Amino acid sequence: MDRLTIRRPDDWHLHLRDGAMLSLVAPLSADMGRALVMPNLVPPVVTGAQAAAYRDRIVAAGFARPLMTVYLTEGTDPADLIAAHAAGIVTAVKLYPAGATTNSGSGVQRFDAIRPVLEAMEEHGIPLCVHGEVTDPDIDVFDREAAFIDRRLMPMRDAHPDLKITMEHITTVDAAAFVRETGIGATITVQHLMANRNDMLAGGMRPHFYCLPILKRRRHQEALRTLATSGATNVFLGTDSAPHPTHVKEAACCAAGCLTAPIALAAYAQVFDEEGALDCFEGFASLNGPAHYGLPPNEDRVTLHRGDPIAALPALERGETVVTPFDPGRPIRWHVEGNGGC
Ligand code: DOR
Ligand code: ZN
Repeated sequence: MDRLTIRRPDDWHLHLRDGAMLSLVAPLSADMGRALVMPNLVPPVVTGAQAAAYRDRIVAAGFARPLMTVYLTEGTDPADLIAAHAAGIVTAVKLYPAGATTNSGSGVQRFDAIRPVLEAMEEHGIPLCVHGEVTDPDIDVFDREAAFIDRRLMPMRDAHPDLKITMEHITTVDAAAFVRETGIGATITVQHLMANRNDMLAGGMRPHFYCLPILKRRRHQEALRTLATSGATNVFLGTDSAPHPTHVKEAACCAAGCLTAPIALAAYAQVFDEEGALDCFEGFASLNGPAHYGLPPNEDRVTLHRGDPIAALPALERGETVVTPFDPGRPIRWHVEGNGGC
């Protein structure tokens, strides 16, 4: 198969930022119908009113159909959440353990404190998206996801069996097994499917591969590729495309995040092609996510074809803001038609 037409995909995990960066990156997700937009701005999006205002800024910047999240804190007001969800302003709530990643300082430290909010979400059918890493400094950074499953996720599922959970950007054999066994939702990024920690660290340290959860060993990458292309209906596309200015990535202390939006759809298609699973691509990219969130799939279609390798993208600039798109370091041969580059 060297040509494929599928329902238009959605991106179930996207960072768009604000201001100049927002206007620079919003158009880069044009292949996607909808995107679930993360709330880790500075300061974070913590109320329904803030989510509505951010939604308007995103639409003005050129991405037409954002779906909004709010950032869960120990002070989240369940009534505000319930009202914003019922009004269609908020699609899901994002849980960051405090200190786990970029702009997570307002996240959750005392998990007991969020019990009432999780109970309200469970009762009202409000989905929870989880950044699944512990922040305990005694836990090695490569083990933080596996520890989170044992210490946090399993107890959370037991305490809130009807809460709809998405484990975001899974990176390990352990998470893949947990997702298979439990059937909870999960997203997988392009970089975790296309790369492992050797790509980031062997022969020199490449900051544009640095994200959180961090890239793991090859055997973890292989488990993710197997799961993504298995036809499992609880696993879906979420890029976690996360722009940082180039000077912040290429620094002594590099920020976590890969700007994958411009190549994401083509790169996912390449992975499915390499795994001989293009027949499962529409499920992963366009059907499983909407089904998880109780939304209809997109009606329009997108066509991709295999051809010559796409050229590495240059840095993108707007005024003082410069960003470097993610380059997996090997050719991507899939092209999204109608996307300039095909
Ligand atoms: O690599 C990451 N970047 N992981 C996250 O969880 C957050 C994101 C960001 O906002 O930059
Ligand atoms: Zn993210």
